[in-house]
Amino acid sequence: MSMSGGEDRSPEEKFRLGVLISGSGSNLQSIIDRLHQGPGNIEIAVVISDNPGAYGLKRAEKAGIPTAVYPMSGYSSRAAHDLDMAEELARRGVDLVVLAGYMLIVTSEFLQRFPHRVINLHPSLLPAFPGGTPIEDTMAYGARVTGVTVHFVDEGTDTGPIILQEAVDIKYNDTVESLRERIHKVEHRLLPDAVQLIASGRAGFASENPRRVIIESD
Ligand code: GRF
Repeated sequence: MSMSGGEDRSPEEKFRLGVLISGSGSNLQSIIDRLHQGPGNIEIAVVISDNPGAYGLKRAEKAGIPTAVYPMSGYSSRAAHDLDMAEELARRGVDLVVLAGYMLIVTSEFLQRFPHRVINLHPSLLPAFPGGTPIEDTMAYGARVTGVTVHFVDEGTDTGPIILQEAVDIKYNDTVESLRERIHKVEHRLLPDAVQLIASGRAGFASENPRRVIIESD
């Protein structure tokens, strides 16, 4: 398999993350708590938001992590917005971009700057229920099981190679909010797990099928 992670770094060199958010940032918080400046040699180099009011920016500031805001309103095109953001991430030497509740779709211009280096978190078992309202859609469909997916980002919407997934049962009495709460608990574990696998070079692509991600312990 070809590896996607930090296998070429010297042991002293940190694996640097750029985390993109739009809102509360509870998943950002899970990366701060579990990985940032911990024994795994991972650090968050910058937190970027498109939304100046995102609470996640406060979480980053509290942890002493640099922040930047790139509102879409300042740009005439998404490509121009993303290229500026990519410039900032590259300037800060980011090895992996983590979309943690980032509500804009990243453009192909952005992805070309970070090939196989952008991951996303999605609150359903993809390929079921992609898009912007997966928890609502799952419940409206009447599904009995949903879950969490962490995947590499490609040019489609929620279509990239899957790194980790975990199922969450849907109870008859669940509301969107109660289900969201249980999904969040799984997300807070799965996203740092996936980052750690990539940072330590234990996640790679199968040579016979580049859609398949191999985890070293598989
Ligand atoms: C998460 O449920 C994630 O799956 C979705 O947006 C939510 C972000 O939550 N893409 P938070 O901002 O990390 O609390």
